[in-house]
Amino acid sequence: MEVVMREPGLKAQLFRFVDVLPALDGAHSVTDHLRQYVGPVRGKLPRLINGVLNYLPEDGWVGERFAEVTRWGVGRLARQFIAATDMRGVFAAVEKLRRKRLAFTLDLVGEAVLSEAEASAYQQRYLELIAQLCDRGVDWKTDPLIDHDHHGPLAKVNLSLKLSSLYSQFDPIDPAGTSAAVRERLRPIFRLAKARGALVNLDMEQYAFKNVTLRIFREILEEEEFCDWRDVGVVVQAYLRDSERDLWELSEWAVGRGSPVWVRLVKGAYWDYETTIAQQNDWPAPVFTSKPQSDANFERLTDFLLDHHDVLRPAIASHNVRSIAHALAAARVRNLPTGSVEFQMLYGMADEIHPALVEMGQRVRIYTPMGELLPGMAYLVRRLLENTSNESFLRAGFLEHAPEEQLLMNPMELIERDTVASARKLAGTLPAPDGFVNEPLSDFSRESARAAMHQALEQVARQLGETYPLVIGGKRVQTGGRIESINPSHCRQIVGSSGRAGVDQARAAVEIAKEAFAGWRVTPAQHRAAILSRCAEIMRRRRFELAAWEVYETGKQWREADADVAEAIDYCEYYGREMIRLSKPIRRDVAGEQNEYFYIPRGVAVTIAPWNFPLAILCGMTSAALAAGNTVVMKPAEQSPVIAAKLMEVFEQAGMPAGVVNYLPGVGEEIGPALVGHPDVEIIAFTGSRAVGLEIQRQAAQTPAGQDHVKRVITEMGGKNAIIVDESADLDEAVHGVVASAFGYAGQKCSACSRSIVLASIHDSFLARLVEVTKSVRIGPAEDPAAMVGPVIDQEARDRILRAIEKGKGEADLAYAADLGSLANEGWYIGAHIFSGMRPTASIAQEEIFGPVLAVMRASDLGEAIGIANGTPYALTGGIYSRSPANVERVRREMRVGNLYINRKITGALVDRQPFGGFKLSGIGSKAGGPDYLLQFLIPKTVTENTLRRGFAPEMSAVDAGAAGE
Ligand code: FDA
Repeated sequence: MEVVMREPGLKAQLFRFVDVLPALDGAHSVTDHLRQYVGPVRGKLPRLINGVLNYLPEDGWVGERFAEVTRWGVGRLARQFIAATDMRGVFAAVEKLRRKRLAFTLDLVGEAVLSEAEASAYQQRYLELIAQLCDRGVDWKTDPLIDHDHHGPLAKVNLSLKLSSLYSQFDPIDPAGTSAAVRERLRPIFRLAKARGALVNLDMEQYAFKNVTLRIFREILEEEEFCDWRDVGVVVQAYLRDSERDLWELSEWAVGRGSPVWVRLVKGAYWDYETTIAQQNDWPAPVFTSKPQSDANFERLTDFLLDHHDVLRPAIASHNVRSIAHALAAARVRNLPTGSVEFQMLYGMADEIHPALVEMGQRVRIYTPMGELLPGMAYLVRRLLENTSNESFLRAGFLEHAPEEQLLMNPMELIERDTVASARKLAGTLPAPDGFVNEPLSDFSRESARAAMHQALEQVARQLGETYPLVIGGKRVQTGGRIESINPSHCRQIVGSSGRAGVDQARAAVEIAKEAFAGWRVTPAQHRAAILSRCAEIMRRRRFELAAWEVYETGKQWREADADVAEAIDYCEYYGREMIRLSKPIRRDVAGEQNEYFYIPRGVAVTIAPWNFPLAILCGMTSAALAAGNTVVMKPAEQSPVIAAKLMEVFEQAGMPAGVVNYLPGVGEEIGPALVGHPDVEIIAFTGSRAVGLEIQRQAAQTPAGQDHVKRVITEMGGKNAIIVDESADLDEAVHGVVASAFGYAGQKCSACSRSIVLASIHDSFLARLVEVTKSVRIGPAEDPAAMVGPVIDQEARDRILRAIEKGKGEADLAYAADLGSLANEGWYIGAHIFSGMRPTASIAQEEIFGPVLAVMRASDLGEAIGIANGTPYALTGGIYSRSPANVERVRREMRVGNLYINRKITGALVDRQPFGGFKLSGIGSKAGGPDYLLQFLIPKTVTENTLRRGFAPEMSAVDAGAAGE
């Protein structure tokens, strides 16, 4: 631990090794992984360890013993923090604590609960734990120090519980549904605890779960059978900026309830996680960002708790001597009786502090985890991080022996010092004003975002059924025919209807766009970018409304719809900036010769978009063409003309000149050939199926009479994307990632996972877990935030997917087919389907289905898995779940896909961060949202001027670079 703390790189690698160790099978695998992990940081290891690693054989007697010693070492490390693996061990551990006059609270370390079967099993284990501990506790002699306070006897059996372990679909986006489901499983636990006189304390997990946890806590304790129960508590985390308000609300609520509850005050164990998630999503950090702020808040909240100790019974959980001393002093100032404040610490930590507090007559309770190493890994890693963190009191106090003045310093003084230092630091790191930043996704764990979405859904529901004519040259154009847009979640509900362009209107739109090109091409790039930025701004303002339209028109779940709107905003901001970058001419001058290289727009672009990202893809292709100075005829998918009409509104509101963008809903077969074949069309940007994409390529290759150019065709087509899972993978994460990638938005993404290739040794256990987890996935209408899988887009898609499933039954084993219940007649639903045991060449493993259908295949080794993954005509997305650095490296090199994801889901690419697009028959190899994308909409031009006049060459720097472009 000491070596590790000195070297952050080594610490990261060793913690990663500890994380993968329980999953490794055999001595060879252990040694091999250890070498892989410490390889890059070898130089940081003590010489002796380095020497051992150099000469260590992987197999044979020595290798086996080494693997054993390694496992023993990690096991010992785990046993320092996890008291026992079985009931006998638990009894021994808690009885030992009691002999030392220490109380306990027992925690059952839990695996990630991904399925309802797992949640039920967890509940059962808890019930057994309470029963067995209470039986055993009958024989425990009462110790007044730990079993009594000034109110009377205290529960001897005390348990801690994480609510997310009780419901596999625990999700703050649906607080009411989550609360109902969790309470269902919590009630028997509370009932038994109450009957047997045990105390149950709810732990607090990540910030996203905080409000729903507090809600469940309050709701269950308002139920009649628990409304006067006092042996119950909850955790408040002082590192959260919200914590003071939460505590205040809890106290008001407890006063109203009329019976006190316990509050365990902690600083919080997920600081690294919270700051990373906030940074990734561009959300404000919910936690304080300096340690003294957390410490100072802890002291403030301690004061609050002591002032309200009659309704919120205080448990001060800290290993920080300053925080503990503050609580002792604050209790003394208030003349509170000894025992009215309880001190709590974690098993295996700060053992030096317990006897001191016991000697002072204070009650100390030890949080005592039990369970196996594998499910306990997340807990173990949190403890290792805590013990080795630069900011940790334990490290400073007990390992580095920092001076007392520093350890016991008032955090408020440190905050003042920090504020000056961080103000200086910030000034140097502000982002450049023109820097692109992804639009943050909405955080639906926040009440404000949920309320805004509910309101938008209601508002949009009142506008369903309207009509949307074509817009050509800024004029509304009525057509004889109509396209009716239907809500796939409720197929009797009409979302709206649009005009239905015919061939004449298609031609008219191209001609108008051609006329508008004359003005738009000479509009400066900055000006074009400014209009696109205005579009982004309008979409930001209309964000929830646009998302609500997507929910109704394309059956997108809340998060999916929200992400689609955010992506559309990103494209407008990104391509505008990209064009400003590209509009600076490149100069390569030599004496007497001026050379300039710059880009000019091409002309009229036709954008043909799919329905599955109804705003983002249409807006992305269109805004790229516009940023580059081309004019556009937008042809949205037949299934999503209403959202496209909304996009047209946005362009108009932003001040796009008439004719620069035209809205041309129509049926592909009717107007597609007229648009693609039109001699005045220069660019066709298409995203959709392979068959249509290739047909467009073929048609565009013709040069009809009157056409004076070669058309540029940008096609993004399908995929048959694979996720490889190897034996070192974290199975929880792998199953979760595969389910999200395969069944999110009912698999209707070109990036979706439709094949999972699993190494033979874990194939069966992976498949069993996958099926179990998929059973728990909720299917339902898109407006219901609890549903993860919604409908497929229309009747035709449904029939096609059902045919593929039928065919699949002939070539593979159907491992799982979800039951639809009453939904079958409501909309176009198809439940998740999982097939296994097929040959890699079977059609179910080769053909794109575009629905919630997953093929799981077995591979004997990684080489075979990569071979299977690459063995389709597609190359779009792909992924691997592995904790073997060597395997990850090999997949990086050999897996032929446009977007490769490692240890995460394979959908959800972000503009600029993960430019998106495939090759082979998935597309032409370009990347939407990346630095090369706009080049396809532009023509590079070189101008060379001889500046030598009668032997006189003007100095180049004196010559103005001149305006680029046309
Ligand atoms: P110390 O004074 O060293 O504080 C460390 C803490 O400071 C970090 O854990 C973090 O919270 C905070 N911190 C570190 N760097 C920071 C920075 N740059 N800016 C702001 N803050 C920073 N935790 C939890 O989240 N949910 C729970 O349910 C429980 N339950 C629980 C029960 C019991 C009995 C105990 C003793 C502990 C918990 N914990 C917990 C864990 C607890 O959150 C963790 O042990 C403490 O954060 C460690 O704080 P100390 O006061 O001991 O140490």
